[in-house]
Amino acid sequence: METQNIRIYYRGKVHEIAGQATTRTLLQFLREDLRATGTKEGCAEGDCGACTVVVGELDAEGSVSMRAVNACIQFLPALDGKAVYTIEDLRAPDGSLHPVQRALVELHGSQCGFCTPGFAMSMWGLYLNHDHGGPRPSREEIDTALSGNLCRCTGYRPIIDAAVAMFDMPAVPFDRAALARVLQTLRREQALCYQHGGHVFHAPRTMDELAAMRLAWPQARIVAGSTDVGLWVTKQLRDLPELIYIGQVAGLREISHEVSRDGEGHMYIGAGALLNDAFAALLTHYPDLDELHRRFASLPIRNAGTLGGNVANGSPIGDSMPALIALGTRIVLRQGNRVRDMALEDFYLDYQKNALETGEFVQGIKVPLPAMGRRFRTYKLSKRFDQDISAVCAAFAVSLDGEGVIREARIAYGGVAAIPKRALHAEQAMRDMPWTEATARAAMQAMQEDYKPLSDMRASSEYRELAARNLLMRFFLETRPDAPLQADQLNVFACAAGKEAA
Ligand SMILES: Cc1cc2nc3c(=O)[nH]c(=O)nc-3n(C[C@H](O)[C@H](O)[C@H](O)COP(=O)(O)OP(=O)(O)OC[C@H]3O[C@@H](n4cnc5c(N)ncnc54)[C@H](O)[C@@H]3O)c2cc1C
Ligand code: FES
Ligand code: FES
Repeated sequence: METQNIRIYYRGKVHEIAGQATTRTLLQFLREDLRATGTKEGCAEGDCGACTVVVGELDAEGSVSMRAVNACIQFLPALDGKAVYTIEDLRAPDGSLHPVQRALVELHGSQCGFCTPGFAMSMWGLYLNHDHGGPRPSREEIDTALSGNLCRCTGYRPIIDAAVAMFDMPAVPFDRAALARVLQTLRREQALCYQHGGHVFHAPRTMDELAAMRLAWPQARIVAGSTDVGLWVTKQLRDLPELIYIGQVAGLREISHEVSRDGEGHMYIGAGALLNDAFAALLTHYPDLDELHRRFASLPIRNAGTLGGNVANGSPIGDSMPALIALGTRIVLRQGNRVRDMALEDFYLDYQKNALETGEFVQGIKVPLPAMGRRFRTYKLSKRFDQDISAVCAAFAVSLDGEGVIREARIAYGGVAAIPKRALHAEQAMRDMPWTEATARAAMQAMQEDYKPLSDMRASSEYRELAARNLLMRFFLETRPDAPLQADQLNVFACAAGKEAA
């Protein structure tokens, strides 16, 4: 098996790359090899945004997507066939500043300047993905675009003002068609196999290639968006000798709807669907996921990370699983030509142990479509609104019949056990009971049998137990048949935003 060069389009030229470690990061390559030192390193774990760059990629239809991502946790070979843009790209050849930069200067959006290139690239991502003739981005869209960038000196108000003002300046168009032509020339027909120092990085292009490689190299680590795996290298200094990168597999990003023979419908989300795309699809059916979506990491992490990666990683504090379990999601697994599925909760066996067999991978998930009479909510408790890990994440789905009696209850939590887990005792206490405060309180009582949470730096076990119970009461107050309360009457973040607006 021969090694091939990685090919990346950067600053008007295709860079043919060899002789680099398979887990060398894009940030290291930019700063140390290309001396493109405008992009900074702050945390090396996707948290601060100092390393934000924009990556251009051809999608299945042949059009170009431009997404802000964190260069510090992207492995260089994963950029094969893609275009990279850094702060060095923004200034025009005649030296004039891009509107993003001019707005930051004129609105005083920078002091020490360490964070500024990252902010500028996140703003450029917003700039590129907004039609300049159309409506301006809302304050919420601007906040979302900047959710992955930390600034310790300037304060966010002038930066947000700059993000508004850049749209008032004469537009600087970006030629996506020209970039698409370049990227077409870099498109591979077959899998990339890149090797260095006895380490190997495979990037299959079809589902069958992936299935065959997974069987041939069962000990290889699968890497999708590397928003978990990247940190194993940059923070834990782990050695990953064999990697199978699934970001180039056509079909793995598929999102579709299927109706089974018995008439039950579900949404299929391929394991490679980016978190942002997967959430956008889920939101069309479950708008109650909106806050969880906005508070899941940051935009650059959601632009790189996948829903399949979150589910496969199975972290006890992963945010998507409680909601998916409460909705009755099934996980689809593939090994060679064999495809099987199982209830998502059955996939998690114990801390960092799942039901994947040797040579098997997650192909996708099936999320049931909304059913009549089902009430669904999910809540994330963490110390910060944006970009924070949950202390407790909860999801509830109850189906009521016409009499207001609970026919099915599914409750799942993250952060209170070694795996994402259903509250079976609490569910039992609710089944066939009217959806009343007495039932909610009985379920809260029964929940004591379901979990024995741990204490850690995020929360004490007492806090977790109490919060888990109280979230069930909040769910009741928001979904009770008589006089349900609106989320913003109970949600501290929404209440605070309401006061600010007033
Ligand atoms: C700054 C920051 C903030 C974050 N915030 C959150 C948050 O708010 N909530 C949250 O839940 N998570 C958060 N995360 C964690 C991470 O972003 C998510 O878990 C993400 O969904 C992982 O997806 P990925 O594609 O990057 O997975 P990767 O890192 O590529 O892989 C993760 C694991 O899944 C395995 N894997 C991936 N795909 C498959 C597959 N198809 N089949 C089998 N195995 C597979 C990999 O082998 C690996 O073990 C955060 C991470 C960072 C760096
Ligand atoms: S260096 Fe902090 S996000 Fe990359
Ligand atoms: S200007 Fe100093 S960190 Fe933002």
